[in-house]
Amino acid sequence: MTQELTSTDPARPAARSGEAPGWWRDAVIYQVYVRSFADSDGDGIGDLRGARSRLPYLKDLGVDAVWLTPFYASPQADGGYDVADYRAVDPLFGTLRDAAEFVRAAHDLGLRVIVDIVPNHTSDRHPWFRDPDLARERYVFRPGKGPGGELPPNDWESVFGGPAWTRTERGDWYLHLFAPEQPDLDWDNPDVAAEFDSVLRFWLDLGVDGFRIDVAHGMVKAPGLPDIGHGAQAKLIGSQVLPFFDQDGVHAIHRSWRRLLDSYDGDRIGVAEAWAPSPERLALYVRPDELHQAFNFPFLTASWDAAALREVIDASLAATASVGAPTTWVLSNHDVVRHPTRLGGPRRGRAATLLMLALPGSAYLYQGEELGLPEVTDLPDEVRQDPAFLRSRRTHTTGDNVPRADEDPADLSGQEGRRDGCRVPIPWSGDRPPYGFGPGGSWLPQPPSWRRLSVQAQTGDPASTLELYRAALSLRRRLPGLGDGSLTWVPAPPGVLAFARPGMLCTLNTLGHDVEIPVPGEPLLASVTPVTRDGLTLLPGDGCVWWAI
Ligand code: NOJ
Repeated sequence: MTQELTSTDPARPAARSGEAPGWWRDAVIYQVYVRSFADSDGDGIGDLRGARSRLPYLKDLGVDAVWLTPFYASPQADGGYDVADYRAVDPLFGTLRDAAEFVRAAHDLGLRVIVDIVPNHTSDRHPWFRDPDLARERYVFRPGKGPGGELPPNDWESVFGGPAWTRTERGDWYLHLFAPEQPDLDWDNPDVAAEFDSVLRFWLDLGVDGFRIDVAHGMVKAPGLPDIGHGAQAKLIGSQVLPFFDQDGVHAIHRSWRRLLDSYDGDRIGVAEAWAPSPERLALYVRPDELHQAFNFPFLTASWDAAALREVIDASLAATASVGAPTTWVLSNHDVVRHPTRLGGPRRGRAATLLMLALPGSAYLYQGEELGLPEVTDLPDEVRQDPAFLRSRRTHTTGDNVPRADEDPADLSGQEGRRDGCRVPIPWSGDRPPYGFGPGGSWLPQPPSWRRLSVQAQTGDPASTLELYRAALSLRRRLPGLGDGSLTWVPAPPGVLAFARPGMLCTLNTLGHDVEIPVPGEPLLASVTPVTRDGLTLLPGDGCVWWAI
């Protein structure tokens, strides 16, 4: 299935002047959800050529690297996280040559490229799973319980809802922690590890700078596959070690991948998408001989409250410092409600971004957040494609995909079927859908209000969210030492956070009203402009200000 490639001489990105090894320690990495970023051929689905054509935009925005979500051959049962051939590009997204050209074009601009790798499960259309004998060696098959084996082997639930087991025509059962179309691999079989080593090498040889490792906490299951004895297991993810998540055995896999990454030239990195019960357990994934970064989901799920934010920032910094790794920060991605909506409006969204970009470490941006895009909460059910929605036992009606009052909006690990709302193709230009997304339509409808939020509409408007992101990213580059390092907390009134970084002080007011504080310096950048008079400043409610000190 793999296409022929003639171009096998990847250019490496030019080092920035004065750049020390470890570009990733303070990098801003932009997530491109390929099917919703830019469409080159008019089928309404974003693709690699479309994404390549927008690389100058990303360079101009000021990011350091791009993370591409899966573009591999896949039946698309879970937006490409169900891979049928890890070495082929799905025709929906282009060809292997397009992938190579994307990497080369990014490198020519000095941007690095990270690709997704999905090692916990494959598609059920993967050749290994289609061969019944091979499948029983390389996936997790077990006999059922009950007199006729008609009950699942244990009580594990799929993250997408329902049992984590499906019965085959032969009568035995296979494990799928996600959709039934995503059978879990058996990592006890050395063939599985060997195949992933080869897949990683394939993409490293093509020139990629690293991997975002999907479900990095899931590949190893507890011996005997014990029952959990608790319903609603999705709610437990990230709050405790489960027999299928965050088992200690996963670290041997990450150590071996680190050796593989280190055997290549340049600084190639591994990033864990891991849900762990504490910052300390998450830090185990980024020990010096393991992966380089792990997504900081505790920060993403923190509530809009100064004390809660300070606690999660301190815990994250302490845990990663204990293993010598940088902390990462993230507010939005393709699995969660976009942060302006989740936090309670665009004003808080802008403030949260300035907070994130002032913190030491590396930050992940999700496409469209630089436009201040809100979650689309009124998609009609007929257009939804998220398997979590399709498998949900809850009744979803139009307009009912926002968290209900009895739900915790920050409980996102369970992925309760709302993910299409953050995956709507982004607006680039023009007055009518698809707003420059491509020459055809868009696979999910865009709200009419997005006309005012397009890249074109916001460019050059100093009050726009796009220009705020551009200014923040430019300041990050200009203020030496702002990326990596540590922070110093400064006394502040309740509800306000203040901390010093090299050359600047960041103040965040999480209260809904202005708070008076002594003027800390000259404003550098603000999510809402502060008013200063007679040595005092009114720190705007739900606002964040960077001050020159
Ligand atoms: C995490 C990915 O981000 C999500 O989109 C996917 O559904 C699951 N892993 C399963 O691969």
